[in-house]
Amino acid sequence: MGQPPRLFGEGNSLVGLRPSSCRTYTACVKEQASAKQILREITTHSAEETIAFGRTLAELLTPPKLVLLRGDLGAGKTTLVKGIASAFEAAAEEEVTSPTFTLIHEYRGPQASLYHIDLYRIDTQRELDTLALDDLRSSESILLIEWGEKFSRFVGECDVEIVLKRMDENERRISVHRDCYSG
Ligand SMILES: Nc1ncnc2c1ncn2[C@@H]1O[C@H](COP(=O)(O)OP(=O)(O)OP(=O)(O)O)[C@@H](O)[C@H]1O
Ligand SMILES: [Mg+2]
Repeated sequence: MGQPPRLFGEGNSLVGLRPSSCRTYTACVKEQASAKQILREITTHSAEETIAFGRTLAELLTPPKLVLLRGDLGAGKTTLVKGIASAFEAAAEEEVTSPTFTLIHEYRGPQASLYHIDLYRIDTQRELDTLALDDLRSSESILLIEWGEKFSRFVGECDVEIVLKRMDENERRISVHRDCYSG
């Protein structure tokens, strides 16, 4: 069995994850076909760096968009939204706080209305329905949803997925994906 082909190269703007464990050609091609296309990837070393990276994402997030923000508690999802909201001139960084209890924060800018949503405390479809998130979708809206992957419909509907991983106390690996995966 020869070496499996590499579909995505590092010189391309779309850098795919290399398959880790494909043993046969067929398995490898399948794995590559489902490889996540990474639009941007960075390691930050402070909250300020994550905010700065968030600012650079505005050009990718032209409305309408549904964005899933994935990562453990304290990974930096809300911190990233500070940068995104300030880039859209929708809120100053310090105005962006966690919607953990209020569930939805709205920030209106000249080009877009941002809705920062936290579904950590939402467990049932009925609770989700009470939020009426569909009413927030419009041609100018950007939904930035933390813990949205708990509900499969958001995985299906999402346009961009941003995954944050805590590597160390101040180090975060952040990757931006064109598609959304429940895995
Ligand atoms: N490189 C970094 N990027 C982002 N945040 C960092 C970084 N280093 C340290 N931090 C700290 O980690 C914390 C991230 O908190 P944040 O509220 O953004 O996380 P979260 O993913 O939204 O969590 P939750 O799921 O609880 O809402 C902040 O206290 C921030 O100062
Ligand atoms: Mg948060």
